[in-house]
Amino acid sequence: MPVTPRSTALVTGASSGIGASYAKRLAARGHDLILVARRADRLEKLANELTSAFGVSVRTVIADLSSDAGMAEVANILAADTSIDMLVNNAGVSYLGASMDIAPEAIDTLLAVNITALTRLSRAALGGFVARNRGTIVNIGSVLAFKAPPIASAYSGTKAYVLLYTRGLQAELKDTAVRVQAVLPAGVATEIYDGTILPLDQIPAELVMNVDALVDAALAGLDRGEEVTLPSVGDLDLWARFDAAQDALFAASQTGTPAPRYGV
Ligand SMILES: NC(=O)c1ccc[n+]([C@@H]2O[C@H](COP(=O)([O-])OP(=O)(O)OC[C@H]3O[C@@H](n4cnc5c(N)ncnc54)[C@H](OP(=O)(O)O)[C@@H]3O)[C@@H](O)[C@H]2O)c1
Repeated sequence: MPVTPRSTALVTGASSGIGASYAKRLAARGHDLILVARRADRLEKLANELTSAFGVSVRTVIADLSSDAGMAEVANILAADTSIDMLVNNAGVSYLGASMDIAPEAIDTLLAVNITALTRLSRAALGGFVARNRGTIVNIGSVLAFKAPPIASAYSGTKAYVLLYTRGLQAELKDTAVRVQAVLPAGVATEIYDGTILPLDQIPAELVMNVDALVDAALAGLDRGEEVTLPSVGDLDLWARFDAAQDALFAASQTGTPAPRYGV
């Protein structure tokens, strides 16, 4: 009788918030885990809790995903460990404020963690996933992919990247069994708001989702086969119309000539 291989999920940004909730829920589903973040104490505590509660194996990797070395370390694990069949690209930062008030170094970090690390880790995982025709990538975006408020221009831009990159991967992989899901939360009660110009207590409580509810909905969306999961959106036809409008706009751009209004 064939032995069922163990399934390992690698979760970035697992030391708090959405990533820690994914770790709990995936452990409850029986996945072994590799948890990545910078705060070793948080990761160790969570690893011990999950090992005793669910009997799964949990490895922690202390890595800074804004650095080349940190990205390379985690990418190497993804490329080498054939038991990994799920990558949750969750680590993210948000520096909120007017663009000229955000330090250039903070912008570099924002782009590195939210865009470069997510892309490099996806690339590293996909080699094995495609070769084995098995595996799932979950990319945590945001509804700010659709809207850039004046305090979140760069952050919103990174999340628009996450959505479009994920859509591209889905198109590339459509003839394989490899899945890529974009999860686009709205407000979720996590530490990401701490120390920003928009602390959680300034957001109406009814607009902020509980973190475990967010992850439960996102996993339900994955189980339902959704490519884009919008946990707080009731009317999914809005997404279908948005997606169709983007396709129509792109198709309308394929003319090769300036539109008549330019008089060229
Ligand atoms: N909360 C919301 O309202 C909301 C809404 C939409 C989307 N999101 C997205 O959800 C994801 C998770 O955020 P969260 O709300 O759960 O916030 P959080 O509690 O602040 O968690 C962020 C996680 O990312 C990790 N991280 C940050 N910088 C890192 C770095 N340089 N290297 C490695 N890990 C790093 C943090 O770990 P260490 O600090 O230990 O490294 C932490 O585990 C992010 O992508 C965020 O953009 C959040």
